[in-house]
Amino acid sequence: MLDSAYLGNGQVFSTSSGRCTSTDFGVKRINTAAYERLKTAIEKAHPPTAEHSIRVRICAESIGEACSLSGKDITTLSIAAEVHDIGKLRVSRDILDKKGILTPAERAIIEMHPEWGMDIAALAFPAMPDVAESVLLHHERVDGSGYPYGLKGLRIPLISRILAVADVYVALTEDRTFRPAYSEEDALKIMLHEEKGRYDNYVLRVLEQMIS
Ligand SMILES: [Fe+2]
Repeated sequence: MLDSAYLGNGQVFSTSSGRCTSTDFGVKRINTAAYERLKTAIEKAHPPTAEHSIRVRICAESIGEACSLSGKDITTLSIAAEVHDIGKLRVSRDILDKKGILTPAERAIIEMHPEWGMDIAALAFPAMPDVAESVLLHHERVDGSGYPYGLKGLRIPLISRILAVADVYVALTEDRTFRPAYSEEDALKIMLHEEKGRYDNYVLRVLEQMIS
């Protein structure tokens, strides 16, 4: 059995220590003005998405730190988490705020938001392509059931796998128009059991340790 596995994005997972480490300590410039503009745009367009995004960022940063990501990768994860749903700004509020079940056509529009978000993030952060990539892949699932590509396992970069776990966990613990918030424990149970196999197991276990 291999002692370590390369996970993409410069990440190495050690099976002996059970920790992720980074092989890439390059520093990339953050376009702070663009970051602030995007955050403001989300706040103005759809406050619930802005509030959700802040919670996802905080959760993702905690998971990333527990995974011993490098400072550069924490920065990438943090920015990607804050703007992961920026593509929803191209979706009408009628669809975003719809209380009933979405039609297939409406669902197809919603499912464009990672690609639209990638386009925006790529323009805003040209020196940080991993941010755009993470936005693009935040709805991929390790069992291949996600979108837009249906990528499986380690073909999804670690930052995107962390972002997916943080996004779903935070969403489950928020009140939605169609259900009240789940408790932290119930949200984790859903991700571990009802939705078994969709998420990176190591990342889920890190989250479990954080909230226990
Ligand atoms: Fe999303």
